[in-house]
Formats: sequence, C-alpha cells, structure tokens
Amino acid sequence: MSIQIFRTKHLTLDDDSSGLKRCLSKWDLAFLGIGAIIGTGIFVLTGIAAATQSGPAVILSFVLAGLACAFAALSYAELSASVGGCGSAYGYSYVAFGEIFAFMIGWDLLLEYSLAVATVANGWSGYFDNALSAIGIPLPEMLTKSPKLGGLINLPAATIILILMALLIIGVKHSAKVNNAMVFVKLLTIITFIAVAIFNVHPENWRPFMPFGWFQTLPDGKTTGVLAGASMVFFAYVGFDAVSTAGDESNDPQRDLPFGIVTSLGFCTLIYILVSGLLTGVVNYTELNVSSPVAHALNLLGYNWAAALISTGVIAGLTTVMLVLYYALTRIIFAMSRDGLLSPFFSEVNPKTQTPVRVIVLCGIIMAIAAGFIPLGDLAELVNIGTLAAFVLVCLGVLVLRITKPTMKRPFRSPFSPLFPVLGMLSCSALMAFLPALTWLRFIVWLVIGLIVYFSYSVQHSRLKKVD
Ligand code: ALA
Repeated sequence: MSIQIFRTKHLTLDDDSSGLKRCLSKWDLAFLGIGAIIGTGIFVLTGIAAATQSGPAVILSFVLAGLACAFAALSYAELSASVGGCGSAYGYSYVAFGEIFAFMIGWDLLLEYSLAVATVANGWSGYFDNALSAIGIPLPEMLTKSPKLGGLINLPAATIILILMALLIIGVKHSAKVNNAMVFVKLLTIITFIAVAIFNVHPENWRPFMPFGWFQTLPDGKTTGVLAGASMVFFAYVGFDAVSTAGDESNDPQRDLPFGIVTSLGFCTLIYILVSGLLTGVVNYTELNVSSPVAHALNLLGYNWAAALISTGVIAGLTTVMLVLYYALTRIIFAMSRDGLLSPFFSEVNPKTQTPVRVIVLCGIIMAIAAGFIPLGDLAELVNIGTLAAFVLVCLGVLVLRITKPTMKRPFRSPFSPLFPVLGMLSCSALMAFLPALTWLRFIVWLVIGLIVYFSYSVQHSRLKKVD
C-alpha cells in the first residue's frame, strides 16, 4: 500500500476529519514541550540521583540521558514532519510496522502518560501541602496520604487532576494559554536559582566527581553509578514526545511539530546541565537526598526567600507537566478509538467545546482515583521503561520507512541516518537495561494485557481493516 493510499485510508492520519480545532502555533507547541518536560525530574530527582547514584557527575547522567533523547527527538521530528497527523509514536508505528505494533505502542503510551500524571500529582500534593503548612493552614494528615501510607485519601493529588480535567474540557487553546503562563513562572524560578547559585559555587563540592563509578549492582539488587543515574534522570526528559500528539490541533503540523519537539528538548537539556552542575557546586551532593533539593540547597545557603519562590515555581511547574501529559493521554486514546482499536465511545468530540469530553472525563476520574488512593512512587520507573520502548520503536520506524517508503516527502530529515536512529535505539535500549527487574516484569504484564485487548476487541473492530 502506498503511503498516500495509507493516509487516505488511515483515519488517524486523515488531515482535518478529527473535529478537533487547529489553533496551536509552533511556539505553543514548544511551550507545550517545555511545560511537559521540566518538572519532578529536575526539581526532585536531580538531588536523589546526585546523592545516591551519580554524585556531582549527575551532570554526566543528564548529558547521557539527554543524548539518548536527542537521537529519539530527531527521529520523532522526521516522522512528525513526514507522516504528520496525530497519534505520536502510535501513529508512526501504524505506518511503519502495521496495526498490531501500533496498538501495542499506543497501549504502552497509555501506561506512560497516565502513570506519569498520577505520579506527578503525588509530588505536586507534597509541595502544595508544604506551602499550606508554611502559611499556617496545614491539611489534616488523613487527607494528604493514601490508605497504604496511613491516611484516607491524597485529596490535593486527586483534586488537581479534576481541575485539569475541567481545563482540558474547556478547550485546548485555553489550556495552552494557562500552560504558557505557568511555564513562564517555572522558567522565572529556574532563572532565580541560576542567578543565586552562580555566585555561590564552591568547586571543592565537585570532588570526588564520580563517587559511585559508572555502574554497579548493590547487594540489595539496587543499581548505582552514573549510568543508573542516567536511567533515573531520564524521567526529567519525558514529555517532549507529548508534543507529537498535538498534530490534529497544530496550525501546520509538518512544519511546526519538528520545531516544537527539537526546540523544547534542546532548551530543557541546557537548563538541566546548568541546574545540575550548579546544584552540586553550591552544596555537597550528600546533602541532596531530600524531596525538594533545589529549595533545600537555597535554604542551606541562607536564601530563604529564594527557596520559597522556588517552591511556588515547582507547584506551577508540576501543574504544567500534568496538564500536557494528561492532554497527550486523551489524544492517544482518541486516535486509537477513531481507528477502531478501542471503543468508539472515546472518539466523540463535543461540538461546543470541540474537545473529546468523554475521554477527558473518564481519564480524569481514573487518574484522580489512582492518585488519591495509591502511593505511586514505585511505579514511576514504569513510566521510564514505557517511554524508552516507544523511543526505540520511533527510531526503528525511521529506518524502516527510509527503506520501505524511500520516496515519501520528508520536510525534516534526521541527520546522519542511519547512524543517529541506530544510536537512538542503542542508547534507549541501554537505559532500559539499567532499570530494575521488577520494572521489567510489570511492563511485560501490562503488554500481555494489551495483547489480550487487541485480540479480543481491536482485531474485529479495526477501521483500517474494514477499509481494506
Ligand atoms: N519530565 C517530566 C518531569 O520531570 C515528566 O516531571
């Protein structure tokens, strides 16, 4: 089947039939990316990775994870420019590998985005609770912890998801505006940190630079070293891929998606290198194993006002991460449903708001329940493995399509192909290999459930098959 025929037949890639509104500019997309990327990873995990895995060499962990993401981002950019349409890695896999792979990668993305939102909501709740306590109105403990941790419900975590649900229902342009405003606050706090930290660096804090070496497995099965640190801080980069789910709503997806993906990732990588280098330069890495290391470092330096400002920025920052990942989740389900792989119930667009209200509400309720009642810390690594698997397939997709569809129009080409896509596959696979065995097991269980859904429902209802 030629790519053009495929496009005509394949509903996800069929340009303007979605009913969704085209209203996002290339800068909206770049801000969506920055909104999704900068969050828990830099504000929380940097400290934990420095203290327990990489030492001051956490900066190298960021460089390595950033490199793997850069290779993947270039592949994403090529496919978003040439294949276009909505659906992210899901849509690209459809074209490159066919339906079952597309379904599995879509299924994998559902895991990535939903768990990421619920996990970040838990982190958000911690910061929010701290802020309320700081102004003298702490919430009762019963309402800030899930039952497993001795409380009743993590109410702030559940509530913030429901608020975002309302925002997404109102419309994507409004959501993008709120996102842009909060990204601005987030960037302001990071600039504040950089401006304060740069004058307080003590180079002796960078020695020893690599106290845990490159990689070792500890007697308790946990891993440590710069490479294990890279697998952990990879979470900080999760989200640039979410930009590619906005194809149906961007003004000119072929031109703007590559711009949004590459700009947001490049910008965030620079920020991460700067912040992680400064953080380990201003205080000793051993002091950073806390839930808010950036604010903690400023407190240790005596800049309490700056620490308070950072906490506000983190609350705004984590909100945008949840907003964009939640948005991406709903658009993937929407696309899969429109293609007949999930129930058509999910692909109804509300004519008033021009948003897929049903799927937004359903996802919101499920994630609010998960965030309110389950402590999700352990499951965050599942987000990484799911995302990395998608990246590997996107890089492979570039290689396959260069061979099977050599004449396809490619407004953006990943440079040095096949070298860069191959490096992307290798580096993302390596980061997967450094993750714990339990994470692998959970991931495989999720994929098996996906296969069951595919063979018991999707195979019979696929719209692409019906067109054939
Ligand atoms: N990259 C996002 C974060 O760090 C998921 O919170």
